[in-house]
Amino acid sequence: MLDIKKQFIVFTFPRESNDTNYSSYVPLFFYFIIVLIMQNITHLAYLPVKGFEPVNTKLINKYNQQFFPTIASKINFCLESIPNEVQFEIRCNIAYRTQYMFDYLGRTNQSPEILHEYMKTVLLECDSYRLLNVSESFNDKTIGANLETDIYKITRESFNYMWPKTTRGNDYKNSLKMVKPRVDQFISLIDRTFKPLSILDSGCGPGRYLDCLSSIYPDATFHGLDQGKDILKSNRDRFDPSRFQFHSGHVNKLPFDDNAMDLVLSVGVLHHVKDPIEQTIKEHLRVVKPGGYFFVFIVGGDGLEMSMWSFLREIMRPVPKEIAHQKFADYFVAERVQGLLDHCYGEYFLTNRDMFESLLAKYGEFQKIPGISGADVTKESMSWDSFFDERYGEGHLRYLIKKNG
Ligand SMILES: C[S@@+](CC[C@H](N)C(=O)[O-])C[C@H]1O[C@@H](n2cnc3c(N)ncnc32)[C@H](O)[C@@H]1O
Repeated sequence: MLDIKKQFIVFTFPRESNDTNYSSYVPLFFYFIIVLIMQNITHLAYLPVKGFEPVNTKLINKYNQQFFPTIASKINFCLESIPNEVQFEIRCNIAYRTQYMFDYLGRTNQSPEILHEYMKTVLLECDSYRLLNVSESFNDKTIGANLETDIYKITRESFNYMWPKTTRGNDYKNSLKMVKPRVDQFISLIDRTFKPLSILDSGCGPGRYLDCLSSIYPDATFHGLDQGKDILKSNRDRFDPSRFQFHSGHVNKLPFDDNAMDLVLSVGVLHHVKDPIEQTIKEHLRVVKPGGYFFVFIVGGDGLEMSMWSFLREIMRPVPKEIAHQKFADYFVAERVQGLLDHCYGEYFLTNRDMFESLLAKYGEFQKIPGISGADVTKESMSWDSFFDERYGEGHLRYLIKKNG
């Protein structure tokens, strides 16, 4: 009987590479000759691998603006010809591991530089997956077809998809617990005699901030605005309509009269919106009554975390959010799933702190909110992090503004 395994050896040699040093293959070549003779191998095949180019990780030395975009494009190149089913699995896996490693380095106060080395190992692994491309059956070229390109539309659709799924039953209760200390913190800065009767949460998501505020201000009426139809439906089913009203709308054109609200919140929303920050801040302060308050939180950024999130979005772009949700939900708690999907599908833009503060100063007195330790990314709440600037840049911008009377 012919033993096929012994009769054939397939060589795959790199080609089209600028930095391949063929002399390093000489000992390997002689080794193979000896193996051929000893194993009595009669057939040899040379299989050139299309476009094979070993990844030159030396090019990716230190963190700079090009680090994550370079890695993302190399990963996309490695994975693009692998069948959807397999490549979606790999992409979700990479997204999770990258986020995990970033968080781990932060929690253990280790240098973010380690992430660079780690990303190289991810890249080398992807390069191995690329060899799957030699099989004809793996040449599924449907990836990239009909992809949505409006990143802000992707952002809106993904929030609408995920919030109702990550805030069911006990998951909602856990999510509410995280919000309580944050609400208590900014409420403690509001004049005690001030009792708001109309409160708006603009970009309310599952309505957890309003829920929390409703026990502090029992006499108020609560308005939640969001663009997500499914989010609004889920909220209307869960909240008492005599106290909570949910409005469909866009944060750049709030459907309320000037000075209609005593307190307005915008929590983690405006960095996801295409319009310039000046315009959306102006629109929110338009509806706040003179003497009323506006609590705003957006990312300031310009650290490694924001670059990493752009990288996650870049590699997850071909993966339908439904598949990513399913995969993450199989392994992680809802809170973690929400965070991952947010970073993988929600576009963020960065805002400079000085510019932001001078913008807020036009409308009234503002106070910087330190944020909750263990939850918020500010220098005050994370004073133990020796690498804060590198990791988070300016961190989160959290402010309470009292509108000029
Ligand atoms: C990160 S979530 C924050 C939700 C909520 N503020 C919270 O912290 O629980 C961002 C929310 O903004 C909403 N959003 C994004 N773009 C919007 C837009 N242009 N108009 C209205 N809502 C928007 C999303 O649907 C999502 O619910």
